[in-house]
Amino acid sequence: MGDTPQTPYQILGEDGIRQLTCAFYDIMDTLPEAAELRAMHASDLAPMKDKLADYLTGWMGGPPRYADKYGTVCMTTPHEPYHIGPKERDQWLLCMDKALEQTNASDELKDMLKVPLFRIADAVRNKEGPSSAAGNPNIIAAG
Ligand code: HEM
Repeated sequence: MGDTPQTPYQILGEDGIRQLTCAFYDIMDTLPEAAELRAMHASDLAPMKDKLADYLTGWMGGPPRYADKYGTVCMTTPHEPYHIGPKERDQWLLCMDKALEQTNASDELKDMLKVPLFRIADAVRNKEGPSSAAGNPNIIAAG
C-alpha cells in the first residue's frame, strides 16, 4: 500500500485523462472501423473532448467535474436518442483500447480499466438484448 496509486485518476492525473480523451476522439475521427460511431457524433468533436474528460475524471476516482457542471452522472439518458447495439459499443471500446495504447498506458492501468469500461459501455447500450445495467446495482453511473 503506502504510496501505491489506488485509482486510475491517481495514475493518470487530470492531464493524463485529458490526453486519453483527446486521443480517443482523434482515433474515432480517423479509424475506418469506427466510421459508424463517428457518424453519430457532431462534426466538431471539441465539446465532446471536454465532456468525456470531465466525465472520466470523476468516474476514475477524481473530482466530480461532470456532475458539478451538468448535475448528473447518468449516461443512459444522453445516449437514448442513439441506436447503440453491440457493434457501436465495440467500436467505442476499440477506440478506447487504441487511445490507451497511444498514450502508453501501463498494463496495470489497462487491466484496472478493462472490466469497468466494458460494463459502462454495455450499460450505455440500448439495443439488442437487456443492458447489463438492468438489475445490477453495482454498475456505477449507468442511469
Ligand atoms: C457504447 C457506445 C457509445 C456510443 C455509440 C456513444 C455515442 C455518443 C453520442 C453520439 C453522443 C452525442 C455526441 C454529440 O453530441 O455530438 C454521446 C455523448 C456522450 N457520451 Fe457517449 N457513446 C458511447 C459510450 C459512452 C461511454 C461508455 C461514456 C462514458 C464513459 C460516454 C460518455 C459520453 C458523454 C459524457 C457524452 C456527452 C453527454 C452530454 O451531452 O453531456 N459515452 N455519446
